[in-house]
Amino acid sequence: MSKNPLTRRQFIHLGTGAVAATTASKVILQPRLLSASPRPVAPSDTVRFASIGTGIRGCELLEATTHVPGIKCVAVCDLYDSRHTAAREAVGDPSVDVTREYRTILDRKDVDAVIIAVMDHQHRHIFEDACAAGKDVYCEKPMSHTVEDGFSMVETAHKYNRIIQIGSQRVSSVLYAKAKEIYDSGKLGEVYSINAYWDRNSPSGAWVYPIPPDASEKTIDWNTFLGNAPKRPFDPVRFFRWRCFTDYGEGLAGDLFVHLISGIHFITGTNAVAQRAQSSGGLFHFKDGRDYPDLIETLYDYPDFKVTLRCNLNNDGGEFIGFYGTEGTMIIQNTTLTYKPQNKRPEPEDYSIYGWPKELRDQYLKQWHAEHPETAPLAADVDGEGESYANPPGYSDTADHQANFFNAVRSRKPVTENEIFGNNAAIGCHLSNFAYFNRCVAVWDPVGRKIVKG
Ligand SMILES: NC(=O)c1ccc[n+]([C@@H]2O[C@H](COP(=O)([O-])OP(=O)(O)OC[C@H]3O[C@@H](n4cnc5c(N)ncnc54)[C@H](O)[C@@H]3O)[C@@H](O)[C@H]2O)c1
Repeated sequence: MSKNPLTRRQFIHLGTGAVAATTASKVILQPRLLSASPRPVAPSDTVRFASIGTGIRGCELLEATTHVPGIKCVAVCDLYDSRHTAAREAVGDPSVDVTREYRTILDRKDVDAVIIAVMDHQHRHIFEDACAAGKDVYCEKPMSHTVEDGFSMVETAHKYNRIIQIGSQRVSSVLYAKAKEIYDSGKLGEVYSINAYWDRNSPSGAWVYPIPPDASEKTIDWNTFLGNAPKRPFDPVRFFRWRCFTDYGEGLAGDLFVHLISGIHFITGTNAVAQRAQSSGGLFHFKDGRDYPDLIETLYDYPDFKVTLRCNLNNDGGEFIGFYGTEGTMIIQNTTLTYKPQNKRPEPEDYSIYGWPKELRDQYLKQWHAEHPETAPLAADVDGEGESYANPPGYSDTADHQANFFNAVRSRKPVTENEIFGNNAAIGCHLSNFAYFNRCVAVWDPVGRKIVKG
């Protein structure tokens, strides 16, 4: 997902010792020290983990874990045999144990934590089995496939008192931490309007992933993949492009809105579900048998502000979140952040008085200037470029997110993006889809813990 030309290894090399640097107008943020332990780790004190689901994201996560000190991957699990090899390559250990059966991993006493990166419809039962087996859990976003799944997962995590982190890695990003600092400082004034989008314009961006030539019922455990979803004959399109289908994924809302919602919740300090959502969109270009639209726009009502989100698979607009406040505007665009104050200097009215006769106009201006002998100097530079920040070269918020999780496994202190946070963000995705498919206002009923038609 990163368009940065540096590899993660180069970043680790550059990043850990780097000092914040300033270019002409942009501050390059300082990376965090990647550490899963506040102290040197004895071999006996290493956190041992296993990974369940080692497809695209599972392999990315495994590679990221290789940069986190004090942890060791002891086993990987996937339903598709070639992914055992891919996982071994990602973690850099050709001898790591591999299996198709995740329960054998949960039975192991030497596994402290699991990473769950399976299709969304499989999250709940693996998550709950892992909690019951006493494992801490890093579960990919969106946490739930349905509202009911999410609340059941929260209850199970609490019942077994597990450390949980959900996988919207923006929440651990240095850029988002800076954005939160600016938001919390009050420099934006009152923020009533937040507008975000994530647009892509390519077959890959629309999940039209190639089918590997060895894909077959021999190499893939198709029935276990289906799980509770309706039974069907083997179909590699459904297995590899599962995001397109309501049985397994949540379309653009579950894939991309969830990152935007998690980022907005983190920055604004919101840990609640929107009250209402209205959606519009359609399937315009990728008419390949998928269930989900390739354009969706959703308007969310929160008590203190309004949020509009869009994902468009027919234009490469990239990733954007704008916070529009009474005192300033803050924009996150891909890997940069800018803040610009608004001009709030008192000024005489210069528009509507042109409907007045000259004499009254002159009188008004004379009085205004008498009452405002000096225009107060501006605290901020409204005419300049504002403040600008960027990620360090080769920065990986995924590696920071992993480090946060493993730190919490050691410290037993909950992370920001815990099961409650993840559940709230996922419900935002379900609200969007409910409104889209039912062509109605989707209303969140917090007492009944369900979405109802408005
Ligand atoms: N945080 C992010 O930026 C990000 C990016 C991509 C994907 N994701 C999330 O990661 C998850 C996986 O996505 P992906 O792109 O890697 O999908 P994928 O299809 O590439 O991989 C999923 C893997 O899970 C395996 N699997 C499914 N059920 C299993 C089971 N019961 N036991 C063992 N293995 C099982 C499948 O065999 C498959 O190989 C999804 O929840 C997705 O939303 C997050």
